[in-house]
Amino acid sequence: MIRLRKDVPLRAAGIAASLADSEPPDSETVHDFSHNLRKSSIVEDRCKPHTNPQDHPIIGACPMRRPQFDRLAPMYATLERITYGSLLQRCRIEWLPTVSHARSALLVGDGDGRFLAELLRSNPEICVDSIDVSQGMLSLARKRIDAIRGAPDRVRFHQQDLREWNPDRADYDLIVTHFLLDCFPESELAWVMAKLDACTRPDAVWLSSDFAIPPGGWHRPLAQLTMGAMYLAFRAVTNLPASRWVDPTPTFVALGWGPPRVQSWLGGFLRAERWTRCDGTASLPNAAADSPVDHF
Ligand SMILES: C[S@@+](CC[C@H](N)C(=O)[O-])C[C@H]1O[C@@H](n2cnc3c(N)ncnc32)[C@H](O)[C@@H]1O
Repeated sequence: MIRLRKDVPLRAAGIAASLADSEPPDSETVHDFSHNLRKSSIVEDRCKPHTNPQDHPIIGACPMRRPQFDRLAPMYATLERITYGSLLQRCRIEWLPTVSHARSALLVGDGDGRFLAELLRSNPEICVDSIDVSQGMLSLARKRIDAIRGAPDRVRFHQQDLREWNPDRADYDLIVTHFLLDCFPESELAWVMAKLDACTRPDAVWLSSDFAIPPGGWHRPLAQLTMGAMYLAFRAVTNLPASRWVDPTPTFVALGWGPPRVQSWLGGFLRAERWTRCDGTASLPNAAADSPVDHF
């Protein structure tokens, strides 16, 4: 669990340091942190280039573990269908109808391009930067959108690790991180999210789907077990840097996003979230009280 301290240096890279402690957050602390953060560092730093996380005193101390999804790429969609049917794709496109106004999107770790294809079909004016560290995944995404008229001209693919990518713009009005944030360990997650936050316009929307551990109920132990098995498998097959799930919610709030719109499935194990920047009044959503609609 994560505690946001009031006394840490309020800089984008400093968020990682502030999140390194391991006690549960209380919403007052999160709110204070969020408020200070917006007032000072992140907003002022929005357009400044970000340094490599390896230069960060905490993150840089550890060798960077590189994810390798190339071997998994050709069978990724099939495995997904066998395990979750069409549920993950439902998560990805859940909030798509609400972003028809977007004109410049940043998709990170989009994988084989199933969300990208739907986005391009539903929004003929949007231009997209799609970053993925896996060449195999990007090739599948390229092939998939070739079939959509005019789409290849609207997409720039970047084969790059997000942690090393240097954005050349800071005006995206849509960020999408479906099933990506859970790939990062706790020591990197806040840093990575701050980097993405810094690329967006003040009125941007952030869509993010992920697995989650529900706060209570009989789904919780089942989710913990399933998640544990998934991390073991993904670390073995893809060299995933993360070894356990870290809730990104406190970091969204600390960065000034929220409250989210949430749809959930499987008792909260699967969540599709839509975040917008708040006016400074958001506090940490109570997982039990934010009443996502659960479909199962
Ligand atoms: C679990 S898959 C999710 C794929 C897709 N977004 C989905 O909804 O199924 C994670 C994807 O993120 C990419 N990825 C993981 N870590 C990354 C990183 N540090 N930088 C860029 N891409 C990364 C992987 O190559 C893979 O395509």
